[in-house]
Amino acid sequence: MTSIPRSGFSVTPPSERPATGALRLYGRRVVLRPLGPPDFSAWSAVRLRNEEWLLKWEPKRLPITPDPARDRPAFSTRCHARDRERLHGQSYAFGLLVDGGVVGEVNLNNVNRGPLQSATIGYWIDEQQAGRGYVPEGVVVVARYAFEELRLHRLEICIVPRNAPSRRVMDKLQIREEGTALRFLEINGTWEDHIRFGITSEEWDERRDELTSTWIL
Ligand SMILES: CC(C)(COP(=O)(O)OP(=O)(O)OC[C@H]1O[C@@H](n2cnc3c(N)ncnc32)[C@H](O)[C@@H]1OP(=O)(O)O)[C@@H](O)C(=O)NCCC(=O)NCCS
Repeated sequence: MTSIPRSGFSVTPPSERPATGALRLYGRRVVLRPLGPPDFSAWSAVRLRNEEWLLKWEPKRLPITPDPARDRPAFSTRCHARDRERLHGQSYAFGLLVDGGVVGEVNLNNVNRGPLQSATIGYWIDEQQAGRGYVPEGVVVVARYAFEELRLHRLEICIVPRNAPSRRVMDKLQIREEGTALRFLEINGTWEDHIRFGITSEEWDERRDELTSTWIL
């Protein structure tokens, strides 16, 4: 795909960039790709089975908003919205697949160009697949795409302090802790403090070989 310079604005207008629906990113064991309406049954099954495991770490859905895990049209709308955001360079959402099945998501959200050139990574995985290092592998795959294809300068991951498994992901990847932002994000109905972790392109350039050989190759 067309690379975007690291500083300044993209030289290629969004409308002229290649379509990314066929986008595939490969790790050692995981494949990341945008989800589409045909993924409803698989995605919905994982989400419904894991509600207790996941919802406590996510923003609360407004009761008037249809639940994409229970409502096929709402899931299609979610996929189409993410397609549009990807085409406009605003976010890059990926299903996380293992052995061809959907087990979670790793998303690159809030892409901010201009002088920031940054984005936020969010992730989750099926509890039955937890503890096998699939998410840290997915984070490295997405980081490589963000730094080397999208030419972003900084990636951020924000974690509620009591989320020990997610902090362990940062620990495994040795992603730098930057401090705690108070009442930073609404999680399950409460404004929660978040520890902000960051990695810049300078650090990626220095650590690319180590991270890719440990997690991807
Ligand atoms: C955080 C999360 C994405 C980690 O993904 P993962 O693929 O399991 O990551 P890892 O395999 O590297 O495991 C990280 C740690 O989770 C813990 N863990 C593993 N299996 C677990 C389980 N079934 N229950 C609770 N914690 C578990 C372990 O401490 C593990 O570290 P270890 O490998 O040194 O033992 C996953 O736990 C998850 O989806 N949690 C719910 C949603 C969430 O918290 N999202 C992130 C919001 S910031």
